[in-house]
Amino acid sequence: MGMDSGMMERHRASIPEAYAGLNSPVPAEEESINRGGDLYTTHCASCHGDGGMGDGPAGQSLNPPAAPIAHTSQMLGDDYLFWRISEGGAPFGSAMPPWAGTLSEENIWDIINYVRALGRGQEQPRGGMGATNDPAAQATQQADMLAQAVSQGVITQEEADTFSLVHTALDDYLTTNPGTGNAQERQTTGLAALVSAGTITQSQADTFLNVHDRLLEAGLMH
Ligand code: HEC
Repeated sequence: MGMDSGMMERHRASIPEAYAGLNSPVPAEEESINRGGDLYTTHCASCHGDGGMGDGPAGQSLNPPAAPIAHTSQMLGDDYLFWRISEGGAPFGSAMPPWAGTLSEENIWDIINYVRALGRGQEQPRGGMGATNDPAAQATQQADMLAQAVSQGVITQEEADTFSLVHTALDDYLTTNPGTGNAQERQTTGLAALVSAGTITQSQADTFLNVHDRLLEAGLMH
């Protein structure tokens, strides 16, 4: 699963005023998730794949490719997702279609509820097409990347350990506390919440951000 380099920029884009701060008014209950699953299968799976990992038959050859939304929706705010689904890829020159005229607002929230449930492993893909979100495989991939960074002298083993610890806590927090904001804003909010809950220290949060930047600079992380 490749994260295209433009994805990081889209994940840091500022959310237009008309959307920024929107919280989902539709609770992630069974009825909504089921409606979302039907709509997702009809409108989204061809590009994003049944498991939501961006590997649908029509999505793979696109440039940029369809996003692995079962995974990324865990890190992105309600407002970001609602904006991107409503308006599509026009601001970024991508093939993501706008859905605002086709789907009701409620139905867009239903789909968001479904995609997040899919990414958590709470829902199973409806068809047989493609990969599912696999946090264990992502953790292995990250451990390999950190080992490489240590062996190249980009970071110390101690920094790698702190990075892993904070990363795991942050993923847990973001997955279980959907909120608003783009990926960067959600990260800032998540770290602050973890520090104030005493789950991590401020110094661990600082190390995480510092290591994050150095991994990016070294081209080891997307
Ligand atoms: C024609 C192919 C295609 C279809 C159909 C499609 N998408 Fe996309 N989608 C893309 C591409 C390509 C991207 C990546 C570029 C971008 O973010 O604009 C994307 C990106 C996204 C993103 C942003 C994810 C992120 O991590 O930033 C979301 C959310 C999304 N799609 C949801 C949906 C939903 C929901 C549907 C169905 C209602 C849908 N897409 C249908 C091609 C498609």
